[in-house]
Amino acid sequence: MLENSRAAESRCPFPFARSAGPLSPPPEYALLREREPVRRVDLWNGANAWIFTRWADVREILANPDFSAVPSTPGYPMLSPARASALDSYQSFITLDPPDHTFFRRMVTKEFTVKRMNALRPQVQAVADRLLDAMAARNQPGDLVRDLAGPLPSIVISMMLGVPARHHHDMEILGAQKNDLTVDPAVPAEATRKMVEIIGAVLDDKIRDPGHGEDLLSRLVIDQIRPGHLSRRDAVNIANLLYLAGHETTTNQIALSTVVLLHNPAQRAAMLASPEALAAGVEEMLRFNTIVQYNSARVATADVEIAGHTIRAGDGVYALLTAANHDPAAFPDPERFDVTRDASAHMAFSFGVHQCVGQSLARMELACVFETLFRRFPALELAVPFAALEFKDEQLVHGLRRLPVRW
Ligand code: HEM
Repeated sequence: MLENSRAAESRCPFPFARSAGPLSPPPEYALLREREPVRRVDLWNGANAWIFTRWADVREILANPDFSAVPSTPGYPMLSPARASALDSYQSFITLDPPDHTFFRRMVTKEFTVKRMNALRPQVQAVADRLLDAMAARNQPGDLVRDLAGPLPSIVISMMLGVPARHHHDMEILGAQKNDLTVDPAVPAEATRKMVEIIGAVLDDKIRDPGHGEDLLSRLVIDQIRPGHLSRRDAVNIANLLYLAGHETTTNQIALSTVVLLHNPAQRAAMLASPEALAAGVEEMLRFNTIVQYNSARVATADVEIAGHTIRAGDGVYALLTAANHDPAAFPDPERFDVTRDASAHMAFSFGVHQCVGQSLARMELACVFETLFRRFPALELAVPFAALEFKDEQLVHGLRRLPVRW
């Protein structure tokens, strides 16, 4: 397709398929990076956007305050009708610019420090052990998405927020509906409505009685809502964002990384050799399977020069994290999964003001899950051929629907 689309005017429908395999980025990324690192593409609604595939350009865009993350800004690029509906029905600080973005984000960053996450680790370990006990007690094959990757991040973020266990399952399903780029636009809108209803009711309980601030939402009530810094509506939006961002991502990262580790036993052994090797391996799995495929949509609010091209005010852009993390200029031999490389400059958590709030939590969960999973199930293997795995490459967050395993 690209061979015929070299001229700037030729059509180049976006997004691209993962035609080289579900664990590889779309091959167009490498071709474009070489030949046209700044490329205009065509979206479903007839609009155009620029896509960027080089690590340095992606970083520059994400750090530049002349690019807005607000979806109502004219020219903001929409990936599909479902995505337009999901963004329309829901506002939180991930889709705000400073200073509003900074105002809300500051209310929660202290909840996700490395120190706090280290203190949380024993509770996450207990959740992992409990889920794996249950998996071991069931008949084989198990489904690692159903048994571990799905519930663990959802239980952990619920625990942190103070969302009662009875809501976990519904919130997991609603989150997945919001992530699907291909569904009827009514689906993400309805999912948002239900999430707002569930989280709103939980928050109302805490507004009535926040106790001594034992969980994040209670602390939000005590520190922000009661003194009048934060409205109930904005608090619900923050809670929804944390819930959504806090489980769907980590679920898919666990599932995809497990497949990669099962395929690479030597890498797996190297990674599990020491806590330092495990920490480095987690960075490499974040780089290799950059699951947040398209979130980094932005729109220029002034004319900006990037890589010799003028991006005009009102032009939409995608700073492609997956492409950046496979740029050989930043990561030599990028299609090789190598837990011994220094992958720390990856942008799986984005870059700039919207860089992931929950990254310390995600890193801790991933390290805990992989250390525990392979210690307890050293003979873990796929229970179906690789070709039978169902990937979610058409979604905002790349992942797997099911992961049948034996041990
Ligand atoms: C492997 C797991 C995760 C990955 C790969 C990931 C990735 C990302 C990325 C790429 C962004 C930026 C999107 C953009 O630029 O538009 C982001 C933002 C965010 N993430 Fe994560 N995330 C993960 C886990 C988590 C967890 C566990 C939480 C916990 C609550 C979380 C909370 C957030 C929030 C609140 C934002 C919005 C930040 C802002 O706009 O200032 N994420 N994440």
